[in-house]
Amino acid sequence: MQYDVTVIGSGPGGYVAAIRCAQLGMRTAIVERYPVMGGTCLNVGCIPSKALLDSSEHFHNAKHRFDAHGINLTGLKINMPQMIQRKNNVVLENNKGVEFLMKKNKIDVYHGHGSFVNKNKIRIAREDGSALEIDTTKTIIATGSKPIVPAGFNYDKKRIITSTEALNIDRVPGSMLIIGGGVIGLELGSVYARLGAQITVVEYLDRILPTMDADCSRELLKSLKLLGMQFHMRHAVTEVKPSKTKVKVVAQSRDDAAKILNFEVDYCLIAIGRRPYTDRLGLENIGLSTDEKGRIPVNEHLETSAPGIYAIGDVIRGAMLAHKAEEEGVFAAEVLAGQKPHIHYHLIPGVVYTWPEVAAVGYTEEELKEKGVPFKSGKFPFRALGRARASMDLDGMVKVIAHKDTDEILGVHIVGARAADMIAEGVALMEFRASAEDAARMSHAHPTYTEALKEAALAATANRPIHV
Ligand code: FAD
Ligand code: NAI
Repeated sequence: MQYDVTVIGSGPGGYVAAIRCAQLGMRTAIVERYPVMGGTCLNVGCIPSKALLDSSEHFHNAKHRFDAHGINLTGLKINMPQMIQRKNNVVLENNKGVEFLMKKNKIDVYHGHGSFVNKNKIRIAREDGSALEIDTTKTIIATGSKPIVPAGFNYDKKRIITSTEALNIDRVPGSMLIIGGGVIGLELGSVYARLGAQITVVEYLDRILPTMDADCSRELLKSLKLLGMQFHMRHAVTEVKPSKTKVKVVAQSRDDAAKILNFEVDYCLIAIGRRPYTDRLGLENIGLSTDEKGRIPVNEHLETSAPGIYAIGDVIRGAMLAHKAEEEGVFAAEVLAGQKPHIHYHLIPGVVYTWPEVAAVGYTEEELKEKGVPFKSGKFPFRALGRARASMDLDGMVKVIAHKDTDEILGVHIVGARAADMIAEGVALMEFRASAEDAARMSHAHPTYTEALKEAALAATANRPIHV
């Protein structure tokens, strides 16, 4: 079979790239090594984790907050198999959705492990041991990433686990130690803390979410501690060992080598980042190699050094985010069609789906200080909002950072209820290069959480918020 373009990998990068290629009139194939479509995001990432975050939040609210609303429940309990089943159903619906989109766009789907025979021939090795080859003019590599698991951590997929297994635990653990206070550690830690597990996070650096705004880290830490999660910053895990029914974890302080912490827990979740996945892809057959972090190097058109071979998503440089992969999928397809697309990487938002949620776009204060850019910032606390009082979601704040002289918005950082949805306003403001005064003069419906953004912009532009 001869194709104009073959996409390897059906995650949010790959399947979106395939759809855009088909829309642009290219004869398109997509190769996926698993029997289901959708990649990490849909099967063991964004979607199942958000399904469990939603379920656990309902339980937590029913247990701890309904009383205050005048709703009294008795006999509340968790049915973990049902919670997991609902999550699986959500995933299944999404799998079907991607399959439907492939059919609708007349994209040929091949299940099996894809690898390069040469620049124009892809071998697809099926699970049953059979294989076939397809011919292609161009290829988009979208093979994604896998969790980083140091060999010494004895990853056994039973009690010493990664996010993949943490999405399928069939009963609420008594205790879980999480290595890494990043996005996965805090999201999945929140799920099990809300369900009643004792969660301990060991983070190597000074603070949780070390790449996000320091005020956001501090605010979220307060809320997660109130949820009962425990934190040990500046500690390195030196040993993870399974025993019959428990896991022993040893961590050493980075400031005092004699300070050792010993833990005995039901589960140890390794959440210290992900590595690009290029295993058995045959890159050597097309003259490609990966960089020091395992990523496939690409130029500004997302083309590799092998002409006609493009790469997108988690397997290349940049944030490992589904929406970044999607933008790159569209970008690569449009480049292939001879168009001149653009991605504003600086305006790709980051969201952490804890409660309160954390969401950010643009520069942090720390980054601007490092760059020597003069700035001013305005903050507004959620607790001063009528809407937040009505719902009792008082934690958090919005921070707007603007250029000191031009007033152009340089960053928006939110911790609070519905931050994940609110950040779209920050992205739109920055995409159109709005000033803090522009944002402050826009009407925001009352009562809404978005009023906090208007007030923070007022605080940044003229230090005159109305409601504090
Ligand atoms: P992937 O989604 O990893 O897809 C790659 C696909 O390629 C896979 O299906 C794989 O099987 C296939 N493949 C690999 N090699 C081959 C081969 N040789 N032949 C055939 N097929 C192959 N991001 C967000 O933006 N929001 C979130 O809320 C979010 N939550 C997450 C939660 C968790 C627990 C995890 C682990 C990740 C989360 N992410 C989230 C990150 C997000 O999942 C990734 O950034 C995104 O999936 C990357 O998309 P991709 O298309 O590059 O790769
Ligand atoms: P991460 O990079 O977000 O966090 C890893 C954390 O582990 C960092 O804080 C790091 O300092 C710490 N760490 C590293 N080595 C350590 C060690 N040996 N001991 C203790 N701490 C250590 O990585 P994470 O959480 O694994 O997530 C992987 C990727 O998945 C992220 O890049 C993220 O973009 C993506 N993701 C996105 C989500 C979202 O958008 N909501 C949700 C979940 C994952």
